[in-house]
Order: sequence, then C-alpha cells, then structure tokens
Amino acid sequence: MGITTSLFDLTGKVALVTGGASGIGRGIAQALAQHGARVAVGSRTIDKVEAAARELNQAAGGDASEVRVTGVSIDVTQTASVETAVRKTVERFGRLDILVNSAGVMLRKPTFELEVEEFKKIYDTHVAGSLRCCQAAGRLFREQHAGCIINLASISSFVDLVEVTSYACAKNAVIGLTRSLANEWAKFGIRTNAIAPGFVPTEINRKMIENTDRGRRILEHTPLGRFGKAEEIAGAAVFLAAPAGGFVNGHCIVVDGGYLACGIGEAFAPWAQPKKG
Ligand SMILES: NC(=O)c1ccc[n+]([C@@H]2O[C@H](COP(=O)([O-])OP(=O)(O)OC[C@H]3O[C@@H](n4cnc5c(N)ncnc54)[C@H](OP(=O)(O)O)[C@@H]3O)[C@@H](O)[C@H]2O)c1
Repeated sequence: MGITTSLFDLTGKVALVTGGASGIGRGIAQALAQHGARVAVGSRTIDKVEAAARELNQAAGGDASEVRVTGVSIDVTQTASVETAVRKTVERFGRLDILVNSAGVMLRKPTFELEVEEFKKIYDTHVAGSLRCCQAAGRLFREQHAGCIINLASISSFVDLVEVTSYACAKNAVIGLTRSLANEWAKFGIRTNAIAPGFVPTEINRKMIENTDRGRRILEHTPLGRFGKAEEIAGAAVFLAAPAGGFVNGHCIVVDGGYLACGIGEAFAPWAQPKKG
C-alpha cells in the first residue's frame, strides 16, 4: 500500500465500481484498493472485467489467499443484474460500504437527428442505471446506517459541449439524483456526492477528442493545456469515500484542469497549435 494517513485510509471498506474495468472507473477502483479497500469492478463485458480485476488485484498486492479486487458482471440497465452484482460483491467480501457509479456511454449527434429511443438509452444508462445501483446498494447502507455513493457527473452537467444533448441531459440529471439522495438518505447514514471530470481520453470519447478539431478547441479552453488522466480523477473519489470526506454530502467535485473557470481560452498558447510534420 502507498503512503496514507487515517484521513484517507479505507482499510476494511468494500467498494463496488460500475464501469470499473476501464477508464475513470478503473482509475478509481485502483486508488480505492491502494488505500486499503477491497473492490469489485463491474461492467457488461465479462472478459474485460476479469482481466481488469486480475491486474488490479495484483497491483493492490492481492493473491489467491487474499483477493483485494474481484470482477462482477453487471448491466446497469437491468435491475436484476444490478441486484445480483451487489449480492455477489457482498458474498465475496462480506459487506459493502462504497458505491461508485462510473458506467457510462456516449452519443454525439446533431439534436435534430436525435431519436427519442437513443436519448432514452443514454438516460437509462447514466440516470436510471445509477438509480438502480443506488437503490440496491442503498438498502444495505440503510441497514448498516453507513454508506458512501459517488456518481460520475461531467463538465456537461454545467456547460454545453455541442451535439451531445442526450449525454448532457443525463449528466444534469445525475446532479439532481446526487442532491436528492444526499438530502433524503442522509438520515440513513448515507452520503451521496458526485465527481465531474474534465476531459480524460478513454474508450468513451477518445475518437472524439484525440487529434481532432474538437480536441484542439477543448485544449484551448483548458488552462492546464492538457487532457486529464484517470488517476487524477481518482483522488477525489478516495477523498469522498474516506474519513477525510465524512462531512461532504450533496456536492459535486469538479476535476477539470480549470475548464469551467475559463471564459476565453489562450488560443495561441503553444499547446493549442497543430503538431508540425
Ligand atoms: N472520459 C471523460 O472525459 C469523462 C468526463 C466526464 C465524465 N465521464 C464519465 O465517467 C464515467 C466513466 O467513463 P470513462 O471515460 O471511464 O469511459 P469508459 O472507459 O468507456 O468506461 C465506461 C464503462 O462503462 C461500462 N458500461 C457501459 N454501459 C454499461 C452498462 N449498461 N452496464 C454496466 N457497465 C456499462 C463500459 O463497459 P462495458 O461495455 O463492458 O459494459 C465501460 O467500461 C462515465 O459516466 C462518463 O460519462 C467521463
């Protein structure tokens, strides 16, 4: 384990991270495990989940005798699948303390062409999907009068990112879900917060932002002048889940390299120039 203080110590805690086999979810799962938690990572693609769990378990110092990271199959659009994943996590690790809702899909399409069914699919994954997980984990949290929920919001919870209307609506609603549960479930010992990452190239957006005009414009608008890394988002999750975050409830931590603070970006900064050659 790396250097931690009791403020950031998650020893004895168990986390379920949906979307935990890749991208930001994987970064969060790794950080939670490094800080002492045992973690179940889950998504729909079981080969990917099992491979990620093996690698993360090894990285966290787990072995056959003491598993630190395990994989679970979960489709957040299916209530039965969510309930099974929560049950399997508890069977494996004996309890559940932390839920991270990082499962996500993206759709970029001009809004005049957006089908309502497509809109519903994005919404179902991000919003109803998070709700299903919150309800399934929340029932356990209520029984033990303790639990921490972390939802993945986005910069698009706050500003428009052009032609991602379904995603933006979903991410705005994730903030609404976060505030609703923070207010309603605090009496059950449950804290609910969100993290809004800036742009981190992952499976969900790599083709849209790496070496594209859209990506260049994003970097012009990002004071730090670069995209983020999954591990740079993970620290906020450790903070929220650990004793350090014990009085934080109903908030959204923005981790965006300054994107939301930027009114006019430095278009002529060196990092915004196209690569020569
Ligand atoms: N990357 C960014 O710049 C960024 C910025 C702001 C917010 N976010 C949010 O951060 C979260 C993680 O995204 P990411 O960037 O890490 O993308 P990612 O690498 O594509 O991870 C998303 C994961 O969600 C899983 N998933 C999709 N639909 C699912 C479902 N129905 N049930 C269970 N799992 C499902 C996918 O695995 P399977 O296909 O195997 O199911 C995938 O592993 C998302 O909520 C995203 O909206 C990302």
